[in-house]
Amino acid sequence: MKVTLFSIASGLLLCGAKAQDYLDQSPAFSLELLSDDTDLNGAFLSACHVGAALEQLCILGGDSTSLLDAEVFSFNTSSSDDGQQAENPGLVTFSLPYTGSNGSATVSEPLGIFPNIGDILATVELTPGGIDGSNGGSVLAFDDDELLNVPWSTAATDRPAFLYSWYICNATLTFYPTLYWVVGSGAPNDPTCCPVNVTRVWNN
Ligand SMILES: *[C@@H]1O[C@H](CO)[C@@H](O)[C@H](O)[C@H]1NC(C)=O
Ligand SMILES: *[C@@H]1O[C@H](CO)[C@@H](O)[C@H](O)[C@H]1NC(C)=O
Ligand SMILES: *[C@@H]1O[C@H](CO)[C@@H](O)[C@H](O)[C@H]1NC(C)=O
Ligand SMILES: *[C@@H]1O[C@H](CO)[C@@H](O)[C@H](O)[C@H]1NC(C)=O
Repeated sequence: MKVTLFSIASGLLLCGAKAQDYLDQSPAFSLELLSDDTDLNGAFLSACHVGAALEQLCILGGDSTSLLDAEVFSFNTSSSDDGQQAENPGLVTFSLPYTGSNGSATVSEPLGIFPNIGDILATVELTPGGIDGSNGGSVLAFDDDELLNVPWSTAATDRPAFLYSWYICNATLTFYPTLYWVVGSGAPNDPTCCPVNVTRVWNN
């Protein structure tokens, strides 16, 4: 039994060898949409509750003169990247308030992209972290134009390609227009889906 447990543990270690801490946290910013759709263009993304400590990013709309707490994000990078890459990859993080045994507290949740088998729409969700102690988030980047992307490296390329495949679709879980990632180069069947870009706007 001990041998089995040890094998599992070392397997996890090997597979997790690239696991990294992302603890250099940027100042606060909000995430604004760019779109040909005039209703979506300029809208801000909010963390919208969909389950225990789970939030998707949706458009609450309303008065945009004051930012909600749910519209404030940070970008956590790793000091071991030491700025070598043109685009320092990292985690988009959200500080989720909750009431714990000692009163009010917050937990830092990373944004992750979670594919759904049989669907080209992947769920974009803030989660409290992986069961194996990993952060559960997806490594993302902001390009020179401040556009959020997925830096995609293959062994064949030494520099990552930057993928932009964000869509807003009307979702059933949040009841609001919600951010999704489309896997591959197809377009979603859902007629409520509209392609967008997501840009970082620093909060002063
Ligand atoms: C982001 O960085 C802050 C500051 O180091 C840290 O407290 C937080 O846990 C980090 N969040 C994640 C999801 O790693
Ligand atoms: C609550 O506070 C006590 C005393 O400071 C501390 O020992 C304990 O770890 C805290 N619990 C949590 C869940 O933060
Ligand atoms: C999506 O929902 C919004 C409001 O929640 C509505 O204004 C819009 O018409 C819907 N879009 C489609 C294509 O159904
Ligand atoms: C998002 O930005 C990328 C990079 O500039 C661009 O190639 C893509 O067409 C944009 N997508 C939309 C929906 O505007």
